[in-house]
Amino acid sequence: MMKKPNRKPVVNHAEEPCRPRRIIGLMSGTSADGLDIAVVDIQDRPSGPVYRVRAAATTSYPPAMRRAILQMMDQPTGDWETIVRFHHAWASWAADQVISFLQEQKIARRSIGAIASHGQTVAHYPGRKKLFGRDCVGTFQLGDPAVLAEQTGYVTVGDFRWSDIAAGGTGAPLSGYYHHLMLSRLTPHRRSAPLAMLNIGGIANFSVARKTRGKLIVTAFDTGPGNCLSDLIMQKWGKRRLDREGKIAATGKIDGEILQKMERLAYFRRRPPKSCGREEFGSGFLGRFYHRAPRSRQVLADRLATVDELVARAVSRGLRHLGKIGGVVAVGGGRNNRYLMRRLGELLSPVPLVGCESLGLPGDYLEAIGFALLANETLSGRPGNLGGATGARPAILGKICLPSG
Ligand SMILES: Nc1ncnc2c1ncn2[C@@H]1O[C@H](COP(=O)(O)OP(=O)(O)O)[C@@H](O)[C@H]1O
Ligand SMILES: [Mg+2]
Repeated sequence: MMKKPNRKPVVNHAEEPCRPRRIIGLMSGTSADGLDIAVVDIQDRPSGPVYRVRAAATTSYPPAMRRAILQMMDQPTGDWETIVRFHHAWASWAADQVISFLQEQKIARRSIGAIASHGQTVAHYPGRKKLFGRDCVGTFQLGDPAVLAEQTGYVTVGDFRWSDIAAGGTGAPLSGYYHHLMLSRLTPHRRSAPLAMLNIGGIANFSVARKTRGKLIVTAFDTGPGNCLSDLIMQKWGKRRLDREGKIAATGKIDGEILQKMERLAYFRRRPPKSCGREEFGSGFLGRFYHRAPRSRQVLADRLATVDELVARAVSRGLRHLGKIGGVVAVGGGRNNRYLMRRLGELLSPVPLVGCESLGLPGDYLEAIGFALLANETLSGRPGNLGGATGARPAILGKICLPSG
C-alpha cells in the first residue's frame, strides 16, 4: 500500500503548475565562498518580467564542506562515492539554509512558488571532445534538485546548464539574459550604446545585449580569472581567505615577465563564446608560475599585484568583443577589490566603469536573483538563453522537480 504523505503541499502544483510568483534563487559560484540566497517576487508583463527582491543573504559554507568543494575542483579525478554522496549532502544542506532563511526573514512558507538552484559547479568541460564517436561537452553541479524539492516541499528548477549544452551550447555563461533584463529595467532614459555587465567572482565574465534589426543579441563570455587566483595565493601563503579590498596587492609590484608567461595561455586568445573555471585557473595554473612559498610579505604582495593585473588586462581585452558600449557595470564580490577596480578603471578608460550600487543593483546577489528569473522563464515555458552567448539554440533551461507531497 502507498504510504500517505505526512506533509501538506506548500504549492498546489496540480492547479497552478507554471505560474509561481515568489522564487528563491540559490547560487554558489567558482569562488565557493558560500551560498547566495535571494527571495524574488516576479511578475510577468507584456514588456517582460519585472522583479523585486524581498530578501537576500549569503550563507558561508561550513569549513569542511568548503575544503571538500575546493579539493574536488582541483582534482578532476575524484573518488566517485564521495562525489555522488556529496551531490545529496549539498542539496540537503541547501534545503536547510532555505528553511532557516525563510524563518529568519519571517517569510511565510506558503508564499514561495519555487526554488531555482544553480548548485555548485565542481567540474565544467565546455570544449568539445570526442567520446565513443560523439562530440561531448560536460558540466557538473553539486546539489540534486530532486532532493531540494523533496526536503523543502517546493517545486525546484535545477541543472540549468545541461539544457544549454543539449541545445548545442557550452553551458556557460548563462548570465546574458538576466543581466540584460536587469539593465533594461533600470535605464529609463535611452542611452546611445548599451551598458555591459562585468561580473567579477572567482571567474570574471562580461555580458552585453543589443537590438540588431529588431532582434536581441546577447554577447556573454568569461574573460578569464576573477579573484580566484588572488584567493588561492592568500589561502596558500597569506593565511587569509582573500586579499580584502586588494590592500596587499596595492603594495605590490607587477612582475612583467611572469605576467607575460601567464598571458600565453591559449584561453586568453580564444574568441567568444568561451567559458572557463578552475580547470584552467586553479592551483594547477598557479603552480606553473609560483613553485615556492614567497620569501617575504613583499613577494606575496607582488604575486597578488601580478594576478590582479592579469585579471584587469583580460577584462580590458574583452572589450573588443562587445561592440560599442556606454559603460561597464561591475558586480560580484570581486568589485570590492579596490586595487583591481582602480586598475580596471585605468585600463577600460575612456569607457566608464560604473558602480552597480549607483544604479540600485544589489551587486552581491545578482546571480542568485538571475537564476530566479531564469526559473521563471522555464516555468513559463520560455527559453532563458538568448542567442549568441553560448553558441546554443534557444532552449528552455533546467530540470523541474516536483515534491511528492
Ligand atoms: N571585501 C572584499 N575585498 C576583495 N575581494 C572580495 C571582497 N569580498 C569578496 N571578494 C571576492 O569576491 C569573490 C566572491 O564573489 P562572488 O560574487 O560571490 O563570486 P562567486 O560567484 O565566484 O562565488 C571572492 O573571490 C572574493 O575574493
Ligand atoms: Mg559567491
